[in-house]
Amino acid sequence: MQICRSTQEMRDCTRDWRLGGQPIALVPTMGALHSGHLTLVARARQWVDAQGGGRVVTSIFVNPTQFGPSEDLDKYPRNEAGDLALLRRAGCDAAFLPTVPDIYRPGAQTHVEVDQLGRMLMGRLRPGHFRGVATVVTKLFNIVQPDAAAFGEKDYQQLTLIRQMVADLDIPVEILPVPTVREADGLALSSRNQRLTPEDRAAAPVLARALDEAQAQVAAGASLASVRSRLRRTIAAEPRARIGSIDIRDALDLSRVSTIARPVVILLAVRFGDVLLIDQRVAQP
Ligand code: PAF
Repeated sequence: MQICRSTQEMRDCTRDWRLGGQPIALVPTMGALHSGHLTLVARARQWVDAQGGGRVVTSIFVNPTQFGPSEDLDKYPRNEAGDLALLRRAGCDAAFLPTVPDIYRPGAQTHVEVDQLGRMLMGRLRPGHFRGVATVVTKLFNIVQPDAAAFGEKDYQQLTLIRQMVADLDIPVEILPVPTVREADGLALSSRNQRLTPEDRAAAPVLARALDEAQAQVAAGASLASVRSRLRRTIAAEPRARIGSIDIRDALDLSRVSTIARPVVILLAVRFGDVLLIDQRVAQP
């Protein structure tokens, strides 16, 4: 596996592959890799194989512009040696580990902002977060120039926003959505889980339980109000959980719904101690 630590090294590496006619799939990450990320790498590999063979690049970059001033960027878990070992074993062809000054050069003035999708839901709780995500993903796309890129469905708003951005800006990258990977007790894998206390870790599967119930209710034709109130009751019954938000939105564009007539996505943001966990489920009426 090639390790590229600068934009120039990454460009040199992918230029050769492109000239050789090999398609490239990118897996953008912030490191602290776990098996959820490895399913993104596996999906990227499956995609290049389906094109007749190609290369998989994983980027590891803890992007400062998607953290708010009160969110502790320094506390974000980092484990470069462990990440590289996992990527080697997963058969990744290159890892891209740029430095912050390489990605954000002094004097830069340009950002990418996806208007409505970037300001709603998690964008309201974390102002500026999605501008940071959209900007860094655009930069990664421009540096690596992949043909496809894999993103987890767990970050459903991020996935929806990136699809919108790629369509709006005519970015020639196919977006590959990858289903959420879960622990045996239902907790969605996330680098943040490492920061949960043992008691909060034991309490956190309430999110998956609440989503299971809600999905069954939607399938049985329950009303929006009753799905919402049961979600709230189930989560509130767990004393360690502090509800940040519970939203039920149109699964395609995250617009508000007043009835459940089409597939909806249920989006949860819940704090356990100082760790904000998110989870989601698409439910079909
Ligand atoms: O999902 C993430 O890990 C990040 O938001 C991403 C897409 C790598 C951008 O920094």
